[in-house]
Amino acid sequence: MSATILAIESSCDDTSAAVIRNGVVLSNIISSQKVHAQYGGVVPELASRQHQLNIIAVVDIALKESRILKSQVDAIAVTRGPGLLGSLIVGVSFAKSLALSLGIPLIDVHHMKAHVMAHFIQKPYPVFPFLCLTVSGGHTQIVLVNDYLDMEVVGSTRDDAAGEAFDKTGKMLGLDYPSGPIIDKLARKGQPRFEFPKSKIPGLDFSFSGLKTAILYFLRDELSKDPEFVQREMANICASVQKSIIDMLMEKIIRASEIYNIREIAIAGGVSANSGLRKRLVEEAEKRHWNRYIPELQYCMDNAGMIGIAAYYKYLVGSFADQTISAQPRMPF
Ligand code: KG4
Ligand code: ZN
Repeated sequence: MSATILAIESSCDDTSAAVIRNGVVLSNIISSQKVHAQYGGVVPELASRQHQLNIIAVVDIALKESRILKSQVDAIAVTRGPGLLGSLIVGVSFAKSLALSLGIPLIDVHHMKAHVMAHFIQKPYPVFPFLCLTVSGGHTQIVLVNDYLDMEVVGSTRDDAAGEAFDKTGKMLGLDYPSGPIIDKLARKGQPRFEFPKSKIPGLDFSFSGLKTAILYFLRDELSKDPEFVQREMANICASVQKSIIDMLMEKIIRASEIYNIREIAIAGGVSANSGLRKRLVEEAEKRHWNRYIPELQYCMDNAGMIGIAAYYKYLVGSFADQTISAQPRMPF
């Protein structure tokens, strides 16, 4: 059976379309919205308007680049949730209309499950069961993955997500949004000279709000002694914050590996683009004899390639959605 899927992702501030044939990504076009940088975070109303402006062109380019005609597409896949309601609605209504007009099935995809499924874009694939630390702007989860369509969250954040911890720290330091990649870059020039208290949440759950408060008070105290502190110590502050976040993430994935006795360890989501986290996973994997899986950068961020791969495995078992579905901003896992 041959399967060609056109996938659409619009859950946050990236408009993306991809074409996937028999599980192989032929094109993966991502249009990132720059309009939010000046506001220090994603402005939902602006995001949906940008999706509306971009979606036709992005889909068109994805089709052209893959050399696939609309008439050759077998199914339309779309992120149904979780995400921003207005942003999701643009993708979902576009996908529904396209599926209806072409007379082909529609496949709804869970955005966080798709981040995990990004590991089936490039070989070597993880071996089931594996653990995936999924770290993005809105979520921080440890996912136990038993099969393509069988996964459960075994640990998650009680407050801020890891990406949010990067972004909120960046805001305090006067950096643009999203601050994760900027902190990553600056951290490479600094040393983790400052220590912040780590949250002590039992089990596999995370908490980052304490770190945020600790950074806030630390900066306030240091700035009262030296108004130039942030400018002078920027790289060291970034290296210290990044190390604290990575320490907290790694502590829990190590614990999960012990609890479930699983040595197949993956990372996914926007924060998995972080060079410090990637390096640390390689080191821990060597030390602990894990097989580790790190997606290529374009598949860490929000992208339709991962939506298409997740949809491909639903396509194979005939798991389709109908025209009554709507966007689900708080879609259960
Ligand atoms: O998965 P993603 O693209 O979107 C969501 O589903 O949220 O993740 C975006 C998040 C943002 O918080 C951003 O600051 C963070 O990923 N991020 C990074 C890096 N690149 C993106 N955080 C740390 N280091 C990076 N290199
Ligand atoms: Zn995401």
